[in-house]
Amino acid sequence: MRDMQIEPQAFDRVLSSMCTDPHPAARDAAERFLATNPGDPGTYPAVAALEDDAIELLGDIAGLDDPAGYITSGGTEANIQAVRIARERADGRTPNVVMPDSGHFSFRKAADLLGVELRIVPTDDRHRADLGAVRASVDEDTALVIGVAGTTEYGRVDPIPELGEIARSVGAMCHVDAAWGGFVLPFTDYDWHFDHAAVDTMAIDPHKMGQAAVPAGGLLVRDAALLDELAVDTPYLESTSQATLTGTRSGAGVASAVAAMDELWPEGYRRQYVRSQNNAEWLADALEKRGYEVADPTLPLVAADVPRSTFDALRAEGWRISRTATDELRIVCMPHVTREMLASFVGDLDRLEVRASVPVASDD
Ligand SMILES: Cc1ncc(COP(=O)(O)O)c(C=O)c1O
Repeated sequence: MRDMQIEPQAFDRVLSSMCTDPHPAARDAAERFLATNPGDPGTYPAVAALEDDAIELLGDIAGLDDPAGYITSGGTEANIQAVRIARERADGRTPNVVMPDSGHFSFRKAADLLGVELRIVPTDDRHRADLGAVRASVDEDTALVIGVAGTTEYGRVDPIPELGEIARSVGAMCHVDAAWGGFVLPFTDYDWHFDHAAVDTMAIDPHKMGQAAVPAGGLLVRDAALLDELAVDTPYLESTSQATLTGTRSGAGVASAVAAMDELWPEGYRRQYVRSQNNAEWLADALEKRGYEVADPTLPLVAADVPRSTFDALRAEGWRISRTATDELRIVCMPHVTREMLASFVGDLDRLEVRASVPVASDD
């Protein structure tokens, strides 16, 4: 029989994940609501009421007075649903969606599932959506323009107000993917949310920087009527319709999202942002001093051109690290990532680099 006492992986060497150790209150709430199903609010009204609270709190964070939306399984579901709303709202028969090449791969799934054309446009030399390229790509069939507020590889924030204007100019909707960035951006000067720009929909995930337990993503919409585009009738349930992509959902995500936000919004998240950002800047500086080229950490995420051989050696030491599409080392300074972890990582890097630079003895 399988040993069910097997331990889940610890976070002490995890440097590439966008998830983190949940806040203790979020962990506790997740456990308590594990067996509830917000997909059936007629039967599980307590967790359904908590979901309303979650959306109110997310609205506060994202500059929306009268928010609507729901707790998704993650950023992927929120992004798919945003594309779905835009497709349903589009006039033409051949809708397209315009996205910078920094957009998350979940939009490829969305395009595939929903039969929309995905137009991927280049980013500029600062890894942000190139506005000229976006303007050149939109047309009367554009249903949605996507901006990313905290990109997966470099933590960059696209020029959201300008993307919103471009979307409006062709009668398209604008979606912001703040799945990762949404819980740090409130403490920066970026214009990224509903009150800053003509944003219609947003992905903002409590289970990333929000410190909730998985699964807790967030879909927010400016106008509750947008959710009608997703709704289907639910004949055998006491509720009348359902706008979510999944049917039965874990109440754990909903309850832990509320618990984390109750506990941390705004001061706890502010403190965490400052800690994470300082850690990212410390690491960027340490890597630069060692001669690596480092992408400026505008949010708590560091990318550096550490060679593949060193990267592989660090992974062999147990460090959970990943690479960008262009082969840079990528480290996400999530709440569980401490200065001590980073110092130990840099210590290993120094040791392994010395070893890698010692010439291999040859026979001749
Ligand atoms: C910007 C962004 N959007 C969407 C996603 C997908 O989120 P999930 O893995 O929760 O579905 C990610 C994942 O890291 C992300 O970084």
